[in-house]
Amino acid sequence: MSAPNIETIVSLSKRRGFVFPASDIYGGLGSSWDYGPLGVELANNIKNSWWRWAVYERDDIEGLDSSIIQNRLVWKYSGHEDTFSDPLVDCRDCNARLRLDKLEIDPADGKATCSNCGSKNLTDPKDFNLMFRTTVGAASADDDPTALAYLRPETAQGIFINFKNVLDTSRRKLPFGIAQIGKAFRNEVTPGNFIFRTREFEQMEIEYFCRPEDAPRVHQEWLDSYDQWIQGLGISSSNLKHYEQTKEELAHYSERTVDILYRFFPEREDEEKQWDELMGIANRTDYDLRVHSKKPEDADGKRINPDSTEDLSYFDPQTNERFYPYIIEPSTGVNRTLLAVMMDAYEERTNDKGEVRVILRLKPELAPIKVAVLPLAKNKPEIVEMARKIKKELQPSMRAVYDDTGGIGKLYARQDEIGTPFCVTVDHESLEDNAVTVRDRDTWEQERVSVDALRPLLSERLN
Ligand code: GAP
Repeated sequence: MSAPNIETIVSLSKRRGFVFPASDIYGGLGSSWDYGPLGVELANNIKNSWWRWAVYERDDIEGLDSSIIQNRLVWKYSGHEDTFSDPLVDCRDCNARLRLDKLEIDPADGKATCSNCGSKNLTDPKDFNLMFRTTVGAASADDDPTALAYLRPETAQGIFINFKNVLDTSRRKLPFGIAQIGKAFRNEVTPGNFIFRTREFEQMEIEYFCRPEDAPRVHQEWLDSYDQWIQGLGISSSNLKHYEQTKEELAHYSERTVDILYRFFPEREDEEKQWDELMGIANRTDYDLRVHSKKPEDADGKRINPDSTEDLSYFDPQTNERFYPYIIEPSTGVNRTLLAVMMDAYEERTNDKGEVRVILRLKPELAPIKVAVLPLAKNKPEIVEMARKIKKELQPSMRAVYDDTGGIGKLYARQDEIGTPFCVTVDHESLEDNAVTVRDRDTWEQERVSVDALRPLLSERLN
């Protein structure tokens, strides 16, 4: 079976309620998406998996939930006000607005070509800042500079400015990290490809603080351990690869950044173009804690921060040294992870009647619904009652649903398509033998199980 492309997932998502176009009844809002009943479950399961892995299963990470809107000075000293921008050009022939850094360059004359119409008749580039602006306070006017604020373009800065709070209250010593999940906003010039690039998205970020000399090793360790987590979500290693950013591509704060790429565009002929960034792991050096510190100087000794009230350096009681920790930052998008998980789980299979069925082979941990309880005959009240009772009994330990809105073949197919690992069918015999049929999503095999043994059996298989 060939890999599904993003369009296949868009169609499945709309059809079954994973993701809908936002503001749809008013004509939509470019590249904005709402997560429906199944999408919100899948996203929550991904976030829970990450939090469990990043925070609970380790001994060196604390959690945080910082504000989306912070003092504007955070974005001044982080460098976002000055540098968080894309170079924009307009095509004079088709009026398309484009990111210069994403355009193909004609090797013959070194000129960028419009990705829309192929013209080289482009305006000079202008920097366009990607931060969404807002104003704070009832009396604020749009042109009042003291009321200006931004929606955060990354969750990371909320962690840096809380470094000392977390350090002091948790009584941590280096190395340790802070994890955060939350929304981020970027006024992307060219959003698109479904939920791959949107203006509102969600990040799962870890900022891991360590001694400068340990940073290269810690960076490598995070790369290895992220590979394991991503593959643990069911994503095949053949659809993942690393990309080492070149010196020219590195952000101003980064010494080394490795992106983990996923094969988001398998339909593209050029193999190189099939891949795009799922997440990145950066060695941010001591840049962040320095720039947010009272009286700091950056590497070239020029920048002074007169506004911060804290020094975010670290004192090591064992060596009696004071220094700014280096930060290793694994940064992942929830939405891109969800897309990759759905693409990798998607399978089409032909049944013995020659019909093509979609199966979403999600890891049970991620499946929006763990078990569907189905009555074989909905016009038989005793069967319906027994099925509803079983659903109720399962619900405290696993997400269960009851469905009687079709024939059994159709109901199985519907559950396969949304990734439900197990269906439980109550039939006429169940009333006699107090047993049900358990059907497995991946093998389509069925077995008879007594109702008393059902919950422990499903719990074991789901875990
Ligand atoms: N704090 C570092 C940082 O924000 P980034 O590479 O700009 O780094 C990290 O973003 C991750 O956030 C990306 O790898 C991607 O998964 C996700 N992301 C970034 N921009 C996005 C967008 N416009 N839409 C969806 N996800 C996005």
